[in-house]
Order: sequence, then C-alpha cells, then structure tokens
Amino acid sequence: MTLTRTLGTCYYPEHWPEDIWAEDARRMADLGLTWVRIGEFAWSRLEPAPGDLRLDWMARAIDTLHDAGLRVVLGTPTATPPRWMLDRHPDMVALDAMGRARGFGSRRHYCFSHDGYRAEAVRITTALAKRFGHLVAAWQTDNEYGCHDTIYSYSEPARRAFRDWLAQKYQSTEALNRAWGNVFWSMDYDRFDQVDLPNLTVTEPNPAHALDFRRFSSDQVARFNAAQVAAIRAHSDAPISHNYMGRITEFDHFALGAQMDIATWDSYPLGFLEDRLEEAADHKRRYARQGDPDFQAFHHDLYRAVAARFPGHGTPRWWVMEQQPGPVNWAPHNPAPLPGMVRFWTWEAFAHGAECVSYFRWRQAPFAQEQYHAGLLRPDSVEAEGFHEAAEVARELSAAPLVELSQSPVALMFDYAAAWAWAVQPQGQGCDYFRLVFDIYRGLRKLGLSVDIIPPDADRLDGYKLVLVPGAVTLTAAFQQALATTQAQVILGPRTNAKTAALSIPLPLPPAVPGLDVTVSRVETLRPDMPVKMAGAGHVTLWYEQLDGSAEVLDRDATGRPVTMAAGTLTYVGGWPDADFLRHLLLRGCAKAGIATLDLPPDIRVRQAGATRFVFNHGPDPVDFEGRTLPPAGVTWRDPEN
Ligand code: GAL
Repeated sequence: MTLTRTLGTCYYPEHWPEDIWAEDARRMADLGLTWVRIGEFAWSRLEPAPGDLRLDWMARAIDTLHDAGLRVVLGTPTATPPRWMLDRHPDMVALDAMGRARGFGSRRHYCFSHDGYRAEAVRITTALAKRFGHLVAAWQTDNEYGCHDTIYSYSEPARRAFRDWLAQKYQSTEALNRAWGNVFWSMDYDRFDQVDLPNLTVTEPNPAHALDFRRFSSDQVARFNAAQVAAIRAHSDAPISHNYMGRITEFDHFALGAQMDIATWDSYPLGFLEDRLEEAADHKRRYARQGDPDFQAFHHDLYRAVAARFPGHGTPRWWVMEQQPGPVNWAPHNPAPLPGMVRFWTWEAFAHGAECVSYFRWRQAPFAQEQYHAGLLRPDSVEAEGFHEAAEVARELSAAPLVELSQSPVALMFDYAAAWAWAVQPQGQGCDYFRLVFDIYRGLRKLGLSVDIIPPDADRLDGYKLVLVPGAVTLTAAFQQALATTQAQVILGPRTNAKTAALSIPLPLPPAVPGLDVTVSRVETLRPDMPVKMAGAGHVTLWYEQLDGSAEVLDRDATGRPVTMAAGTLTYVGGWPDADFLRHLLLRGCAKAGIATLDLPPDIRVRQAGATRFVFNHGPDPVDFEGRTLPPAGVTWRDPEN
C-alpha cells in the first residue's frame, strides 16, 4: 500500500494580528505545507462569555488559509475551558489523589466525569461542526488526553460515576466483594454508595479496587471523546483525529482509536529523552540533541496500531500532529537539536508510515508559558533553523520514493490494561510495564528488525513469524485463541497471564498456556544493583520468577535455576532480561522463526517500509555502515533498484 506524504504546521491565528494572517498563509504554502491545525485552545475567543459565540474571526482565518491553498484541521477547544466555565460549574475541576483541586491558569483542568462540562464540550463542538463542518478537511478532538497527569480525578462527580460503573459491572455488592476479595481486612460492602475512590487510604488500597478505578477512568476518557465525535459526525464528513502523547498509559488508546479515522501523536524527541525515560546519564548526554534512538519509532508503531482499530479504512491512517522543530521549554533541560534532526525526525515518521508530519508551531510565541519553545519562525517572523529543514523535506518529498506499508515479520503486544496492573501492583520499584515492553522493542530494533505493535485482543497472527508477549498480565480470550492456532514462534513472559481479570492469582498457577508445561511457583523482585547472572550471556534484573514444569529448559542462571523454558513454538521467559540476555533470547527466537537479523553499529537503526529500506544514524558522530559513511543526523533510503 503506497501512501501520500504531506507536511503541516500548528497555527494560532488568535495570537497574531489579523493583518498578518494572509502573509503567514502564503509563507506556509510556499514552504510546501499542506495542512494547518488551528483552534484547539481558542475557546475564550470563540465564546468570550457563556452563549456569546464569536465564530466570524475563525471563519475569516479558515478562508485566509484556504485562499493560500492550505487544508485545515480544526481542533475542538475543550482542553482549555475558559475562566467563566468555572463560575458555571465550580465542581468541574479534577481533584488530585490528595483531594486538591487542580487550579485554573494553565490547561486540562477539567474532570472527565463531570456531566455538565461534557455537555458544554458537546455544545461548543456542535457549534463548530455546524459552522465549519463542510469547510474543514479534518478534525482534532481536544488536545493530548492524559498530558500533565490528567486522567485520574478524585472528585465527587468521579466518585458518583465510579459507583454507577461498578454497579453496572458487578450488579451486586456480593459479586463485587467476591471479585475483589473483600473478605481480606474486612473490606466488604453492602451498598455501592459505600465504595469510595481508592485514594487517601491508610495503606495501599485493594489492588482490584485500584485496577477497576483505572479501567473506569479510561472508560470516562472514551466516553468524553465519543460525545465529541458524535457531535462532529452529525454535521461533518471530515475525518476525525486526536493527538496522543508519548508514554501515556493511563487510558486505553486502542479504545479511542476505534472511534476515530486518524490517530496522531505529538513527537518531542529531546523533551521525551529528558522527561520520559529512565536511561542513565551517559545515554541522555549522548542523545541529548538527537533524542532516544527507539522512543519515537516505538510510538510511530504504537499509534499505527491504534489507527488500525478504526474500521473505516483499509490502511491505518496516522500522523505526527506536532513535531518538535527546535528547543522546547518544558523538559528539565532543553537543548537545541543537532542540525539536520528536524529533517531526520520527519523522515523517520514517514518511514514508519505517517501520512503527515506537522510542525509545532508556526511562529514562536513571545508571551505566556512557551516563550522559549521554538517555532518554524522566530517571534520576529524570521525563519528559524527548523524552517529550513522542513523546506528541505518538502523538496525531497517530490523526488523521494513513496513509502509503502507492509506487515513486519515481528509482532510485539502492547496492552494498556497490563500497564495498569503493573502500576497497581509493581511488586518492586522500577517494575513498570512500559519499560519492559520498550526494552524489548529496543532489543528488536538493535537487531535491525522492523516491528508491528499488536493490541491485546489480536485474534489473528497470520503473517507473523515471531510474536512477543511480555508482561501481558491477563491474556484475553481472543488472543489465547490466536495463540492456539498460530505457526509463529511465541515468546511469553515475564509476568504474562499471571493474574485473573480481577487481579488475583489464578489456579492453576500461571502462565497456564495450553501446550506449555511451565508453572511460575514463586515471584521475587530484585534491587536494580543485584542482577542475577545467567549461565550464558547477561543477567535477569528487577523481576524474577521461579519456574517448574516438564517443558525443556533453554536457559539457566549461573546457579542452574531455569529461566527460559519451551515446548514446540512456545517459549516462556521467567525474568526481566538485561540487554545481553535479551539479545541472546531474540537471536535464538529469530533463528527458530527464520528471520534474518543485522549486526548494527550501536547508533544505527533501520526500517523496512515495503521494498524501501531506510537507515538512520541516531548518534552524534559519523558512522560507517554497509560501505557508506552516514553523518550525524544522517538518513538514507535504498530502493530495490539501486
Ligand atoms: C504539546 C502540546 C502543545 C504545546 C507543546 C509544547 O504537548 O500539545 O500545545 O504545549 O506540547 O511542546
């Protein structure tokens, strides 16, 4: 499947005098941009007082952009309810786990469970869809659900909604007590209105209670989004998207993906390296101006999978809605990218199948919170460094091969519910689901592999040769079915199928996968400074399971204790592998699956897109690879013909 590739930018007409809009639009078009996203924070200017809609300026902005030949993505402004909204709905703000109200004066201060606020969100969305639904080429709902830690709210509306959610799920408190194991510590309930949110307890709350709260909170996001989607669809045929963020696991993105035509995400490689990764200081220093070599790629692959949930299209449609164009303002340190990185990041997204890469933002704002955040233009409208790199990509796009999407031989499961289970019951510091999956993703990429992410309810594994399912705490029935029929090599564990859906230990003991006689008879977690040495390469770190059973032992630790056991195409790994042990596991898995691997220099990553192979140098130094020297920020692609 070939894809068209386009560029865009994020523009805030309300930030600039109207007499410069036309010149801005002309410069965007001259730069080679196709798309402009507007509107997502403009509520106070669209409706300065309740009911006083002022949409004409937005109409003029859209006309101006259209006159320059640009296509508009209109954002619903619901991430920034204006100040008057709090007067109308004083209890609409989210409360943090300590019960403190999240204050006005930045953004995302609303609680997903507040019915009054949801109705206001639907009202403004409907007004925009009615007026602009036939004009705009795409929509974005809200902005970055979950950013700034905003999924969980411990408000009164959330408490009421949680009780209703539990009553629907369990039907009786007896069923709830049984599922949660409330006989423990005399936690039984007689009525649903006795159940509180799982905050402010003396010691940890019942993990089943905490897990249900996470499930509920995720459902509230889906419900909030669905209401906007319905309001838009009533008046517009344009495709709908949301801009997801990096390493946000608090809601199920697959559930939202099923609602919308396009999945997009906001890629800030330098901010993420500083702010979202636990890597050692030397790693952060080495990649400070390029970003982590695998973090962006992981999210490209993840959101491609999220996009694939939408039933309407054959090819998953996904974009980068906001691409870092220079230094940002919000990470602990905010260095400038190496020259060439803005172009590099853009091509990396295209190599993973993006339809559009849109730069945040058009012009750097000289006021308010993000003054030191680069744009394509400086505050004085002079072209900034990122502008020239975007221009280079625009030129290259006409000459470069179209990127095809093709299935990868390797599939890696990502399961948001597993992330919640690990978070609720980590059993040891640092035991985090995202980290585990990301370690494995990195290990695969270091061997030159392109990866497809699959959701937890994937019911077909056709075409995959190697499937990895680390840490998926509760396997879905659909996936168990897929497992029973696949020809692929499958690597499970650690902590895969370890719990029931109510987060209890199942009987028979885990992993209870038919055809694989392995039992996890005990679990221990390790200090990060006490890795257990393997008899062969590497170590087990952090999470370590004791395995019994009659399956063949493939790997043992240095004391002879089984760590990996296998039967047929199924392999179970009873510990969190470090990089060396992981490499050994993956090489063996690939050999069994008949997948060729590459011996890559540490800074090099490749991505196979159909017949085209892209090669990226993520390091700060030139690297010799396959007979050519790749400069820092270097990206090349090779077609089968040359
Ligand atoms: C994103 C957000 C933008 C802007 C940007 C700064 O998270 O969607 O509105 O704040 O970060 O990097």
